[in-house]
Amino acid sequence: MNRRVVITGGASGLGLAMAQAFMGQGDRVAVCDADPAAVAAVPEGLRAEVADVTDAGAMDGFLAGVEADWGGADVVISNAGIGGPAGPLETLDYADWQRCLSVNLDGAFLTCRWAARVLKAQGTGLILLTSSVSGLFGFPGRTPYVAAKWGIVGLTKALASELGPHGVRVNAICPGAVEGPRMERVIAMEAAGRGIPEGSVRAGFTEGVALRRFVTAEEVAAMALFLASPGAAAITGQALAVDGHTERTT
Ligand SMILES: NC(=O)c1ccc[n+]([C@@H]2O[C@H](COP(=O)([O-])OP(=O)(O)OC[C@H]3O[C@@H](n4cnc5c(N)ncnc54)[C@H](O)[C@@H]3O)[C@@H](O)[C@H]2O)c1
Repeated sequence: MNRRVVITGGASGLGLAMAQAFMGQGDRVAVCDADPAAVAAVPEGLRAEVADVTDAGAMDGFLAGVEADWGGADVVISNAGIGGPAGPLETLDYADWQRCLSVNLDGAFLTCRWAARVLKAQGTGLILLTSSVSGLFGFPGRTPYVAAKWGIVGLTKALASELGPHGVRVNAICPGAVEGPRMERVIAMEAAGRGIPEGSVRAGFTEGVALRRFVTAEEVAAMALFLASPGAAAITGQALAVDGHTERTT
């Protein structure tokens, strides 16, 4: 389709799955990522640069390069995020709280600030933000991440209202637990934080889900493709779960 797609945190995980899905439709995709090794290993044809989403200078450089070469963008996906610390709030370190909020929310701000200007000037475009089911429910022991992901939903709602009159749509995708290495890390961290076996944490994730399973990165990418398609032209300001239907969070 030759759309111009920009994705943060796009050199691995969900970001890379979304990048590959758009590339599969013939789109041009540019990603940034904080991990130089992951950037060096991206598939051929994917434009990738090292940039940390919390570094305003690095992000300005990455986004200015895209704008100079492509003249704008059609789909901008603010995806980079980290799980942050786990455990009872009173045990958490302030620096860990700040880093979690910063990667998830400051990164979204810097990405959306550029996207809002560019897409508004074009009078068309889509901004997608990766929230989480943690942006729809309260998960004990994950207060920094939950706060950050509810913040993403708030940003989505407000920005959709700002940009709707200018022809720009803004939506959040809220994945449930996604199969893969990141989820394995989250399970290990949460098990340590709550002092329970990893198997119990894993079971807790699927028992509270109607489909009784994790979702796949491809299923999340399919939602991104749909939201970027003409069939989604009236969908904005929404936080859409791809989670197998979360029923219980504890
Ligand atoms: N995996 C899940 O189960 C799950 C569920 C719900 C929401 N999410 C969200 O999906 C998004 C992507 O997560 P993922 O599962 O692909 O994680 P991941 O750790 O597999 O990949 C995230 C990518 O973002 C990059 N990144 C991390 N910090 C960065 C920073 N400061 N600047 C730039 N890049 C950075 C990492 O290097 C990595 O390549 C995150 O926002 C996450 O919170 C994930």
